[in-house]
Amino acid sequence: MFESIRAVPAASAKPSVIVIGIFADKQLDANSKALDKIYAGIISAALARGECSGESGRLAEAFPTGKSTPPSPTRIIIAGLGKKDSFEAGTLRTVAAAIGRRLATTKETGISIDLVGILSTAKRAKPEFAGRCFGEGLGLLGWKSWVFKGKAANPGSEPTKRTNLTISSPDTDFAAGLARGLALAGSVNFCRDLSETPPNIAIPSYMAEQARAMAKVAGLSCRVIDGKELDKQKMTGLINVGKGSANKPCLIRLEYTPKGSSKGTKKRSPVVLIGKTMTYDTGGLSLKINNGMVGMKRDKDGGCAVLGAMHAIGTIIKPDRPVVALLAVAENSVGDVAYRPDDVLTFRNGVTVEITNTDAEGRLVLADALIWACELENPEYIIDLATLTGGVVTALGSTFAGMFCENDRLRERLERAMATSGERWWRLPMDPEYRDMMKSPIADILNSNPNRKAHPIQGAAFLSYFVEPKVPWAHIDIAGVHAVESDSGPFVKGPTGWGVRLLADLLSTPHPGS
Ligand code: BES
Ligand code: MN
Ligand code: ZN
Repeated sequence: MFESIRAVPAASAKPSVIVIGIFADKQLDANSKALDKIYAGIISAALARGECSGESGRLAEAFPTGKSTPPSPTRIIIAGLGKKDSFEAGTLRTVAAAIGRRLATTKETGISIDLVGILSTAKRAKPEFAGRCFGEGLGLLGWKSWVFKGKAANPGSEPTKRTNLTISSPDTDFAAGLARGLALAGSVNFCRDLSETPPNIAIPSYMAEQARAMAKVAGLSCRVIDGKELDKQKMTGLINVGKGSANKPCLIRLEYTPKGSSKGTKKRSPVVLIGKTMTYDTGGLSLKINNGMVGMKRDKDGGCAVLGAMHAIGTIIKPDRPVVALLAVAENSVGDVAYRPDDVLTFRNGVTVEITNTDAEGRLVLADALIWACELENPEYIIDLATLTGGVVTALGSTFAGMFCENDRLRERLERAMATSGERWWRLPMDPEYRDMMKSPIADILNSNPNRKAHPIQGAAFLSYFVEPKVPWAHIDIAGVHAVESDSGPFVKGPTGWGVRLLADLLSTPHPGS
């Protein structure tokens, strides 16, 4: 949509567009009233027109005429903000996206956002957080992968010229928020680029290269465990799930260490983030049928979100505590050496698993990462993100991710991060009865109970066998929310980068909403 979007200080900005806002009551704030006076009532005239309803995301425009010093803007956009009483700053993501879509067609290059006056009349709209939501909305809207467009993309014409957009605000707090929101969107867009990359390119070694390159930029350490070392470390899930593919599996470990943590002092225990990173999921020998396979390049999105979050953590959030990321990376393919239904696998923690379905592969590679985290990282808490089950899509659609967490404190943290990031989850239950459902007649547990009951919960119940009971842990099934099928709000059809902002907010202190 745009070549680039940059936040610039108001003093050096040369905006040709001014954005003001109105709630559904269509009242102007003092600043907007002053503008209306300067430009001979063109704003009040626009307010009287039918399209100017004040509905959230509805835009109206006013066009100054005549010459003046400093030069008049080309246009004033009057953005609808919805009902004042129920206003939440998060809706500014969608408002910003509506403005962005308009700007992309008008080819304007500089906008000034003057919303703080009107927002001060509502609750729940602190300037910095409002600016952040606005910046995020524009930044997220700006994502589009052009990498795979070739010679036939624009037959007979020059490639489409996209504009470099600059954004500013007269309010310094709102402006600081804009810059932060744009930066966060940058981390999300890095995740979306990876999600979009096709499976013939984004093979496990490619994911490792990307993680290494990102770690350098973000000041993280990076270690890739593969080949014989995977055997040595008894990473049973990765070894077996990855066996059928020529593209060999790996475990990627990234670590963020806060500045100033001296060698002598005892290391604070890290937060561990785990991501299912299946570069392609054919289902293995329990092969997915025809259309069930399309889109499975996105079965790596848990890992992509964790990479995006680590980028944000290293470059923007910079928390005062260590964070470790573990990506379980493999391609689930078919072949004579592929793992099969009926195989029994023994995991590093001694748990044995009877394979009933090679398409329930994500939980097997996550098991390795969970064991690793509990045994080797001394985690304060663990969060795993995974496109784990089709069942969660049936249950919750694309509105909420499915979340499992039996620890009250961790759940509260995740609730706060949900409120500020707007990335929503719904709690699903865990219970000994579900754990019992996973019992196997010949091994300890099954990787999937063929009775087809409670699929998303079966996934979580399986994983619980690989987490030390004393370690707070949350499992988030993102199979419904990691991508959208059509443009919606600040998202265009394709990957949403779900989880990057949730995890970034989770690790922010003080919390961005407070
Ligand atoms: N990667 C899939 C889950 C998935 C489905 C993600 C749709 C995104 C969209 C996972 O590995 C899988 O195949 N799950 C099976 C589990 C079953 C075999 C127990 C499923 O959900 O059908
Ligand atoms: Mn599968
Ligand atoms: Zn999968």
